[in-house]
Amino acid sequence: MNSTQLPKYINPDSLSDQVLELADRADYIDAMSRVANSVNVVTTNGAGGQLGVTVSAATSVTAEPPTLLVCIHELSKVVPAIIENGVFCLNVLESEQQAFSQLFAGLAAEEPAERFSAEDWTQLKTGSPVLKDGLAIFDCRVDTIHKEGTHYIFIGQVLAAKKGDGLPLVYSQRAYAKPDWI
Ligand SMILES: Cc1cc2nc3c(=O)[nH]c(=O)nc-3n(C[C@H](O)[C@H](O)[C@H](O)COP(=O)(O)O)c2cc1C
Repeated sequence: MNSTQLPKYINPDSLSDQVLELADRADYIDAMSRVANSVNVVTTNGAGGQLGVTVSAATSVTAEPPTLLVCIHELSKVVPAIIENGVFCLNVLESEQQAFSQLFAGLAAEEPAERFSAEDWTQLKTGSPVLKDGLAIFDCRVDTIHKEGTHYIFIGQVLAAKKGDGLPLVYSQRAYAKPDWI
């Protein structure tokens, strides 16, 4: 069965109307704030421009073929750039790289053009900016683009993957954290 054959809802006959109502938006956001995520900077480069954005919504899809996805708000300037460039890089931040998260979330003083200093960034296969000291790097070609609500879901095929050293930068309960392994 492919995704287009899947029903949007489970058999509604077995559920009451109340159960089928969508959760309250604020409840959803509040509950989701408890989830721990890695913090990443998604970058792109090409005719559509060199841009980056901080993203926690990123995950592996499958290793065969190596595929991952990132979710980016429709109003982000990175969306049209990724669509035009056809490539992006998922840069997973290390626990000491909080400043990059703030920078690419537009929460620091630097203008977009000043965000990619040569000492911090390099390139791999696609030409998208690659953080030299990132915890993990996934350089991707765009495979599929979905739109769901307010967000674009970019599914990328990974052309190059590289691991770095250190601990992941974690975002949960609206704050940054560093893991203390148990
Ligand atoms: C920790 C953290 C996680 C974020 N995760 C996402 C995300 O998954 N998707 C998204 O679209 N924006 C996310 N944002 C917000 C964007 O980084 C922010 O809106 C950014 O400024 C968009 O910039 P632009 O409009 O210049 O592209 C996150 C921000 C922070 C600080």
